[in-house]
Amino acid sequence: MTAQPRIAYAMEPDLDVAEFRHVLVESGMDRVRPINDEARLRAMLAKADLIVTARLDQPGSPLVGLARGVTDFNWACYLAEVAVCKSAQRLGVGKGLLDEARRQLGPRVSVFLASVPESAAFYERIGMTRLDHGFYFRRAE
Ligand SMILES: CC(C)(COP(=O)(O)OP(=O)(O)OC[C@H]1O[C@@H](n2cnc3c(N)ncnc32)[C@H](O)[C@@H]1OP(=O)(O)O)[C@@H](O)C(=O)NCCC(=O)NCCS
Repeated sequence: MTAQPRIAYAMEPDLDVAEFRHVLVESGMDRVRPINDEARLRAMLAKADLIVTARLDQPGSPLVGLARGVTDFNWACYLAEVAVCKSAQRLGVGKGLLDEARRQLGPRVSVFLASVPESAAFYERIGMTRLDHGFYFRRAE
């Protein structure tokens, strides 16, 4: 059996925009995020309250995944992205990011997100409940 790489999870409120963009591209989320608008990516990082990262636990430690959320740390958290580089998918990193996000948020906070269709089974697999009565206004641009 091949040994799985060790992954280190951390809160990185000052995550570099180039690393954020890298994970969006390498996870396949470039088709649904504004990867060519650096100012918008910077603002997405700056205004987030929760940035959890996953890095290979070795010197140089490249970023392999992240979860970014907006929260009051007391009632609710909206997770705007969970993204794992394709090279590190199906190794438990996505679940690890959600586990660390929930650990940081604590038991008083509900976690919500909107999935792309092809990842919905992942969220069900890790135990999230599908909403019957969720609503949103779609952004126009
Ligand atoms: C969705 C995503 C975050 C999952 O991350 P991951 O690290 O590959 O997932 P994990 O390895 O932690 O998977 C946990 C479990 O879910 C399963 N799983 C992972 N992706 C799945 C998928 N797309 N469909 C069904 N099951 C999936 C795994 O097989 C694993 O099951 P197990 O408990 O039986 O071993 C990752 O594939 C990704 O970044 N995708 C592209 C971006 C995206 O769609 N993000 C979500 C929308 S915001």
